Amino acid sequence: MNRLLLVVLPIVWLTATPKPIPALVIGQSGTASSDSGPAKPASSTPDISGTWIAKTTSPMGELEIVYKLTVHDGKITGSQSLPFGDSPIVDGRLTGDAFQFTVELESFGDIQKREVTGKIVGDTLVLTPAFPGPPPGNGPDGAPPAFHMGPVTARRGTPTPSHRAPSVDYAKLPRTSLPALYDVSANGLATTPPMGWNSWNKFQTHIDDATVRGIADVIASGGMKDAGYQYVIIDDGWQGARDASGVLSANPSFPDMKALADYVHSKGLKIGIYSSPGPRTCGGFEGSYGHEEQDAKMYAGWGMDYLKYDWCSASRIWRDSDMQAAYQKMGEAIEKAGRPVVYALCQYGRAHVQTWGTKVGANLWRTTGDIRDQYDSMAKIGFAQTTLADFAGPGHWNDPDMLEIGNGGMSGDEYKTHFSLWAMIAAPLIAGNDIRNMTPETRAILTNKEVIAVDQDSLGIGGKSLNNSGEIEVWKKPLVSGDIAIAVFNHSNRDMRPVISWKTLGLDETYAVRDLWAHEDRGKTTGVFSEPVTSHGVIMLRLTKVR
Ligand code: GLA
Repeated sequence: MNRLLLVVLPIVWLTATPKPIPALVIGQSGTASSDSGPAKPASSTPDISGTWIAKTTSPMGELEIVYKLTVHDGKITGSQSLPFGDSPIVDGRLTGDAFQFTVELESFGDIQKREVTGKIVGDTLVLTPAFPGPPPGNGPDGAPPAFHMGPVTARRGTPTPSHRAPSVDYAKLPRTSLPALYDVSANGLATTPPMGWNSWNKFQTHIDDATVRGIADVIASGGMKDAGYQYVIIDDGWQGARDASGVLSANPSFPDMKALADYVHSKGLKIGIYSSPGPRTCGGFEGSYGHEEQDAKMYAGWGMDYLKYDWCSASRIWRDSDMQAAYQKMGEAIEKAGRPVVYALCQYGRAHVQTWGTKVGANLWRTTGDIRDQYDSMAKIGFAQTTLADFAGPGHWNDPDMLEIGNGGMSGDEYKTHFSLWAMIAAPLIAGNDIRNMTPETRAILTNKEVIAVDQDSLGIGGKSLNNSGEIEVWKKPLVSGDIAIAVFNHSNRDMRPVISWKTLGLDETYAVRDLWAHEDRGKTTGVFSEPVTSHGVIMLRLTKVR
């Protein structure tokens, strides 16, 4: 690593205190109230078998948590259902009016056990739901903050109808075989990092045909297509049920997938879809387990051009060491279906995916857990990608997750950092906001063609961090023309003026300097670089050799 002459002079001390990372505290609204009725005496153990619903609000919107309980001889079994899937209840006990059980949750490929204790209060159950904690050492971004929730009150009831698939009894699920490993041939797609839009970050599972069409309209007419955005990707939540012969339908929010794909194609765009190698997706919908060929054929018939394939419940069936074979199975199925499809693996950076992703025919693979629309989450994920740079290249890309630009949780400067960093990484640029209603500032970030050109450079080299003083970090990415992209990031909570000697960046010749956010020329690389960089902001430059 080059040693930089890096002198950092603070020019403005911000008066605002650094932003705290908000703890995700989800609704206390379910706390038992005094009018819930007196607790039953411990001597007469009531039967709490049945379906119990707790409703509360959260930053993700209305949250419904469903407990299906069976009590037999004081032993509790059943399931806890969150909007991201069902989890079995094991080792439960009911003693008098108190109960406790263990919930087995999926967390980015780990199965985690979480204890739940609760009380019967009148005709309600008061309990603190179990949420998955951060996966230990999962991916280079480390642990995302855990969800927390205070006690909620559950009442007997019927869950709101949804298109989620019924719970799976994993102990009884017939096991399908995995193929012997071989190298699936490369599909020749994604010679530069895929660009597009995906429904998840903004809409989660509340996605439908009209929204996807509206997004496609705006991409096509609002300047995004012109800037390079191509794929309109439907994430989790489109699935309905399988029929007797295993054919999966979309749910009523997507009345005609083929017509939708035709519509997106008619705009000169491509369309993508989402599934899992497990029986259930992370959102609890039908996955492709045991139906890989059937599903791949159906996607091809619909005209899908991109598949995001998300590990999720596969962790209840297979180990990380089986992951390559499980992903190969769908890689083969896509190849057999005969339609060129960008194959995007989503398994949170587990099992050294960067070393075998191309062998299963993948064009990109997730390298981290899920991004959140917060500077700390984005920065933790993004800056860690430097270690994976050598695995990126034409046709196969590291994917540090989709963009949060425009979703409201970061400042404009922070979103510029997000976009610049993803471009330096040569990451897929998959917008995740409601682009039908974005501000001019968001549009300007997402459609900055000078920054996009760095991401889309045909050499396909992943940029790397040259130096990180803790406050200022400098990245470099060589480009096909011989130009060099440089990004100077400010991690600190104050505006800074770094002073960097060009020579220490390994630049022995003279380059013309172009500022890719100001869209202005900035002289030549003689002397030092010294410009103010805002707190959490970036200066991104393109250097062109002076001949
Ligand atoms: C996982 C993925 C997300 C999204 C959801 C859908 O969390 O990492 O990107 O696809 O599942 O349920």
